Amino acid sequence: MSLKEKINPAKLPEHIAIIMDGNGRWAKQQGEERIFGHENGVKSVRDTVEAAAEIGVKYLTLYAFSTENWNRPQEEVIALMQLLVHTINAETATLNKNSIRLQAIGDLKSLPSDCYNELQEAIENTKHNSRMTLVLALSYSSRWEIINAVKEIAKKVEEKTLSASEINEDTIAKHLCTANIPDPELMIRTSGEHRISNFLLWQLAYSELYFTDKLWPDFRKEDLYEAILDYQNRERRFGKTSEQLV
Ligand code: IPE
Ligand code: IPE
Ligand code: MG
Repeated sequence: MSLKEKINPAKLPEHIAIIMDGNGRWAKQQGEERIFGHENGVKSVRDTVEAAAEIGVKYLTLYAFSTENWNRPQEEVIALMQLLVHTINAETATLNKNSIRLQAIGDLKSLPSDCYNELQEAIENTKHNSRMTLVLALSYSSRWEIINAVKEIAKKVEEKTLSASEINEDTIAKHLCTANIPDPELMIRTSGEHRISNFLLWQLAYSELYFTDKLWPDFRKEDLYEAILDYQNRERRFGKTSEQLV
């Protein structure tokens, strides 16, 4: 039986989030510049998006560029932004063909204008697609997102359209960039790093975390299946005891 066939469709995560890490190290292993790794990472994105859509995942979030990544060498940042514009432009037709809706979370206004415009256009052109939502986290960091949410909530309290005592989990969730997106059941990070790097801190509260040593440009459909199978073998207790679950 193939890995894909072993996946239980009844226990499929509705939302998978991925920290695509290891492009630079992959390039270095080949004796190439870091950007070569980013370019090859696009193949993994294509493969993963296709695999997720095929098996019926409804939301796939990819961490593509963090707020902290702006501090990388200027030439890498520029090259990454160019790659982004080029990829979004080149992939829109495929997204439509596969009925995949594109969305983005993060401080999008901080992106270079060509990148921002390309992104908005692709979001607009794919907005009626319904098979899967692909969420790109761009210029994203969770602390930035939480600060924004707190500011918006505080403003409503100041304007007296919300009372402080009414604030609950739902209020916070609705003020995050992910307001209309369910929390990920599964978070995958490649490249052997065991950290969250400012990604979806609120939303990952009860997610299953899966780490693989594979570097992102080597990540393929089979690796996604393996992560899902691992997830399906876990017991999600949400604070309860095992006995309570049966
Ligand atoms: C992930 O790969 C891609 C981005 C953060 C944009 P890295 O560029 O972080 O690769 P490593 O971690 O240095 O190998
Ligand atoms: C996290 O990777 C951000 C993205 C994958 C976009 P980094 O490579 O930037 O994370 P750290 O710095 O190793 O934690
Ligand atoms: Mg990295």
